[in-house]
Amino acid sequence: MLLLRPRYDLYLAVLASVGICDIDRESIVRQFNLKINQSHPYSPVQVGNGNFAFGVDVTGLQTFLPHNTLSSWGWHNSSLPNTPNQTSIADYTGVDWWTHGRLVNYAQPNPTEKEISQWLVANPHRINLGRVGLWFGGRNVSEDDLTSKTQVLDLWEGAIMSSFAVDGEEVRITTVASPTSDTVAVEIKSEVLRSGELGVAFDFPYASGKNKFDAPFVGVWNATANHTTKLFAKDSGATILHTLDATTYATSIHWENEATITRTSNASHQYVLKASEDETFLTFTVTFSPELVDSTEEFNDIKEQATDWWNDYWTDGAFVSLPISVNTSARELQRRIILSQYLLAVNGAGKDPAQESGLVNNGWYGKFHMEMVFWHLAHWTIWDRWSLYDRSIGVYERFLSTSFERAAHQGYEGARIGKMSDPSGRSAPGEINSVLIWQQPHPMFFAEMEYRKFPTQKTLEKWDYILAGVADFMASYAWYNESTKVYDLGPPMYPVSENTNPNQTMNPTFELAYWRFGLDVASKWQLRQNKSVPASWTAVRDNIAPFPVENDVYVLYEGITDMWTTPETSEDHPGLLGLYGWLPPDPRLNLTLFNNTVAQVYESWNFTYSYGWDFPLLALTAARMGDAETAVNWLLDTNNQFDELGMPEGGSRVATPYFPAAAGLLLAVGMMSGGWDGFKGPIFPKEWDIEVEGFWCS
Ligand SMILES: *[C@@H]1O[C@H](CO)[C@@H](O)[C@H](O)[C@H]1NC(C)=O
Ligand SMILES: *[C@@H]1O[C@H](CO)[C@@H](O)[C@H](O)[C@H]1NC(C)=O
Ligand SMILES: *[C@@H]1O[C@H](CO)[C@@H](O)[C@H](O)[C@H]1NC(C)=O
Ligand SMILES: *[C@@H]1O[C@H](CO)[C@@H](O)[C@H](O)[C@H]1NC(C)=O
Ligand SMILES: *[C@@H]1O[C@H](CO)[C@@H](O)[C@H](O)[C@H]1NC(C)=O
Ligand SMILES: *[C@@H]1O[C@H](CO)[C@@H](O)[C@H](O)[C@H]1NC(C)=O
Ligand SMILES: *[C@@H]1O[C@H](CO)[C@@H](O)[C@H](O)[C@H]1NC(C)=O
Ligand SMILES: *[C@@H]1O[C@H](CO)[C@@H](O)[C@H](O)[C@H]1NC(C)=O
Ligand SMILES: *[C@@H]1O[C@H](CO)[C@@H](O)[C@H](O)[C@H]1NC(C)=O
Ligand SMILES: *[C@@H]1O[C@H](CO)[C@@H](O)[C@H](O)[C@H]1NC(C)=O
Ligand SMILES: *[C@@H]1O[C@H](CO)[C@@H](O)[C@H](O)[C@H]1NC(C)=O
Ligand SMILES: *[C@@H]1O[C@H](CO)[C@@H](O)[C@H](O)[C@H]1NC(C)=O
Repeated sequence: MLLLRPRYDLYLAVLASVGICDIDRESIVRQFNLKINQSHPYSPVQVGNGNFAFGVDVTGLQTFLPHNTLSSWGWHNSSLPNTPNQTSIADYTGVDWWTHGRLVNYAQPNPTEKEISQWLVANPHRINLGRVGLWFGGRNVSEDDLTSKTQVLDLWEGAIMSSFAVDGEEVRITTVASPTSDTVAVEIKSEVLRSGELGVAFDFPYASGKNKFDAPFVGVWNATANHTTKLFAKDSGATILHTLDATTYATSIHWENEATITRTSNASHQYVLKASEDETFLTFTVTFSPELVDSTEEFNDIKEQATDWWNDYWTDGAFVSLPISVNTSARELQRRIILSQYLLAVNGAGKDPAQESGLVNNGWYGKFHMEMVFWHLAHWTIWDRWSLYDRSIGVYERFLSTSFERAAHQGYEGARIGKMSDPSGRSAPGEINSVLIWQQPHPMFFAEMEYRKFPTQKTLEKWDYILAGVADFMASYAWYNESTKVYDLGPPMYPVSENTNPNQTMNPTFELAYWRFGLDVASKWQLRQNKSVPASWTAVRDNIAPFPVENDVYVLYEGITDMWTTPETSEDHPGLLGLYGWLPPDPRLNLTLFNNTVAQVYESWNFTYSYGWDFPLLALTAARMGDAETAVNWLLDTNNQFDELGMPEGGSRVATPYFPAAAGLLLAVGMMSGGWDGFKGPIFPKEWDIEVEGFWCS
């Protein structure tokens, strides 16, 4: 990837001037509009803006299924444990493990501090802001009672149009989200409104905080006594203040025609909005906010803003057109590309890195993982969508002080990036979390991508302090082995695949390559600024342990035995393959050995337990080796499914959706379209008549 030839501006200008960049994007995008006639049992249809998303059932609202309303800012803490000596965060002390002759404190769950360890894992957790569904005059109407159900998600405009009949009367609903505020705008048109037999119910759940995977529905609906709501109504609007312990936020509702809102009972948190008699439409906006706001947003304005935003989104950036009318694989791949682009703008473009399930439901309590930032963000750079990338890339700087503290606490230099994080940068204790290391070089990858696109002093300054801090840690973490005269990584550590004994794991192949790459970029960064390179960085970069090899094949880590026949080490992420395709070739990479390694993975790996980004990783490697057919096959592998609504299912080890699979797919397709340094794209099956535009070097 760093790897893309940089003179793309010039090249594209030439292409544009001869009229090659001329894909009819609108017609391709709209071919993949969702058109459904019943609620999906698990996945919602969504509108949203990257920081806020609203998932709906077949009615265009959360009527029959309480799909979620999630945001970047909605979080909650459960009360601290009241176990003696475990009543405050300060009572958590982690555990000390021997690390090259000294005791290092790791944020592992401490068996004598179980309650507070678990509290730190589960808190804060992301909350479901509320449910907005149809209300049928108090009658118990189910989805089966509706007839003529149709729903269209128009991707080109970011709008959901739903229609159905209740008791033979048609109801039409349009649902859109604001691109800039946490607002959903709804227009309901129906004669049924006249009779008072149709309205909109707002309801609010308590936070769960108990389930790592809170899916498909987030929150607890029957703990009504544990939280409060309060209604402040006025002429054409109302604000509902919801308080869950220390968390309070506002839901500001603004309606445009005559309507009233009332609470259905003091024992519930349900409020019903009804149009006055003789109205045949009900148009309103709902704005969720951490502050008390009094929104006067209007449906038409939001609809217009959403249309403009989505039109621009599809028009800007790169695009690929596959032969969808002649080849079913091409069609399925194009479907995944388009729907992933939609879903990642809704779920994977917020102020913090995305959680794996985006804003659809909660995995890992709603938190995000710093090692996954690579998969969540890299595709935006290749597809030339920097404004979406920019929203969260600042996380490295925001978390820098906690990263410095983490390293210092463990007796290392520099800044050690955490893993499972909340928006404050606190990394949750966890068996894996405190000893995983592959998140460390990510800032080097991103900095280099930015510099290729924006080779300016500003870019150099933006990343200077971050890269220096992270490189200091990386150099300090590598341990000089007096007997082999090389720098070792670990133990203890977990490799990418998290499936080894951390006390035995050292010098994993992928991490060695990535460490060298990271230090190399950090060194170049210094030189570009006419600064000297710290000797420690150079020493580690140039003397890092060699890749472990057994029988002419690269293996997971140094000293591993029977890797290919041991079930645990021949399943999960095949991180080894990241040496070529994902990373630019390490100067020590032997392509004969790598070719043997790929063949060995193909032969021995158990892909049943592969998930999410494993398939894009495999595709990147296959494409880099020139095998486009295999690359496409990996992206469409039977263990790598995208459901009817385009949600990446993720695989058997995670809950749906698992967005690294979608983001990874776009990264792989982007590289296959744009190509690598010294290996020109597009790299797709030869028979495929394809067009690509806007990739860095297409
Ligand atoms: C609903 O959609 C499915 C799948 O597209 C289709 O097979 C079915 O015929 C549709 N049902 C109705 C009643 O339109
Ligand atoms: C949760 O508690 C932590 C630790 O006290 C605090 O830093 C954070 O702001 C709290 N978050 C919420 C949403 O209350
Ligand atoms: C709590 O801490 C006190 C003193 O710090 C100690 O005496 C006591 O044994 C501890 N109790 C438990 C249950 O660990
Ligand atoms: C690793 O070694 C430490 C001692 O340094 C020990 O406490 C810990 O349980 C070991 N971890 C595993 C996963 O075996
Ligand atoms: C509503 O009807 C459905 C079946 O149509 C039933 O399962 C459910 O229990 C009913 N709910 C109430 C509150 O009556
Ligand atoms: C709420 O529902 C859950 C799951 O059905 C049940 O276990 C729990 O007892 C209920 N709590 C209350 C307060 O009704
Ligand atoms: C609600 O509060 C009660 C009393 O404090 C507590 O026992 C219960 O666990 C809480 N429910 C939830 C879902 O947190
Ligand atoms: C709720 O309580 C308020 C006063 O506390 C009362 O005026 C109102 O009638 C109650 N509403 C319902 C629906 O019971
Ligand atoms: C689609 O393209 C792939 C890759 O070239 C090829 O293997 C497959 O046979 C094609 N399928 C159809 C239906 O043409
Ligand atoms: C790559 O490895 C093969 C097999 O060990 C060896 O024969 C070859 O010389 C190596 N190539 C280079 C360039 O080192
Ligand atoms: C390894 O190289 C051979 C010869 O170039 C090639 O045919 C084969 O496809 C390669 N294997 C892989 C897994 O790429
Ligand atoms: C792959 O792993 C699954 C799950 O453990 C197991 O059921 C299956 O037998 C394994 N397949 C092979 C070929 O070993």
